[in-house]
Amino acid sequence: MKFSLQSNDPLSKARAGTITTAHGEIQTPIFMPVGTAGTVKAVHQRELKDDIDAKIILGNTYHLYLRPGLDILESAGGLHKFIGWDRPILTDSGGYQVYSLSKVRKIKEEGVTFHSHIDGSKHLFTPEYAMDIQRTIGADIIMAFDECTPYPCDYAYAANSIKMTHRWLKRCCTRFDTTEPKYGFDQTLFPIVQGSVYKDLRMKSAEFIASMNREGNAIGGLSVGEPAEEMYAMTEVVCDILPYEKPRYLMGVGTPINILENIALGVDMFDCVMPTRNARNGMLFTRNGIINIRNKKWEDDFSPLDAESDLHVDLVTSKAYLRHLVHSNEMLGAQIATLHNLHFYLWLVKQAREKILAGEFYEWKNKMVKVLGNKL
Ligand code: GUN
Repeated sequence: MKFSLQSNDPLSKARAGTITTAHGEIQTPIFMPVGTAGTVKAVHQRELKDDIDAKIILGNTYHLYLRPGLDILESAGGLHKFIGWDRPILTDSGGYQVYSLSKVRKIKEEGVTFHSHIDGSKHLFTPEYAMDIQRTIGADIIMAFDECTPYPCDYAYAANSIKMTHRWLKRCCTRFDTTEPKYGFDQTLFPIVQGSVYKDLRMKSAEFIASMNREGNAIGGLSVGEPAEEMYAMTEVVCDILPYEKPRYLMGVGTPINILENIALGVDMFDCVMPTRNARNGMLFTRNGIINIRNKKWEDDFSPLDAESDLHVDLVTSKAYLRHLVHSNEMLGAQIATLHNLHFYLWLVKQAREKILAGEFYEWKNKMVKVLGNKL
């Protein structure tokens, strides 16, 4: 993997860069649609490519390990081949999903024991196994196995937790560095900063993560219920420590406003289920604010979802029709709303990049933050 920087915003810490992977280039800042179980829910790979031009998608170790399982993924020749996607893939390590999804988990120095949310079967993820699984999935960018602390989290717990996450990281690096990719292309490992909402712990964690000298770095444990201002404060101290010349990935963030504010603090990569999950409930993100398409006010609004969009479904679908589809729980409603939201998120980060390159990001960002908060 390579990362080069093209431009810095003069009034903020926003930057425009390019990540080069074995499966192509990603211009940053970037948003990565979440494709948990080998599918970005309700969107076909052809649409991801041809309609919204997604440059990289995310997969989840936890889900893919449980189903379809490692034997199938390996026989297929890895996740890219299995799902028919030839652009970059990043996989999360399971270090978040085991806490949020599985039942009865036990965290020990060795790793985390958990019960599958699918059939209750018992499994152990260790840092080493999380590396092996991600080698088998064959993602371009793989994530370290960490503990994402809940919010709120007391200081003593968070302080002990980063120590364990750092010990786990050393084990991840050792395993990663002594194993080979399985499908003939390079993979890279990103470590994850933790430390809850405590500045000194975040600084300590960021210093340790930077010292591991990987090709990119991530920030975890945010957007877990803390106020946005606390999230920004943590991103700021961490970005000031993580190396300038490597990509920074803020995990699981966030709203369009969160994304713009964090770009201004020096973050390059984002993922979040919000545009996909909320689409299925009828929440649409637009350039003028948020719409709940289930609302009665759209019942007889036959205007297009977005007349100025370059996305086909935005031009040919009326608000009234999408309201009807979502209201009736029709699958097509989820498909159209998801495409719309992902297209909007990708438009937003592309605009951000253009504004950074033009040296106009900060002013534009402040203007956008005002309108994006509107409820339409
Ligand atoms: N996704 C969102 N937050 C986190 C985190 O802290 N750790 C991991 N592994 N994944 C995440």
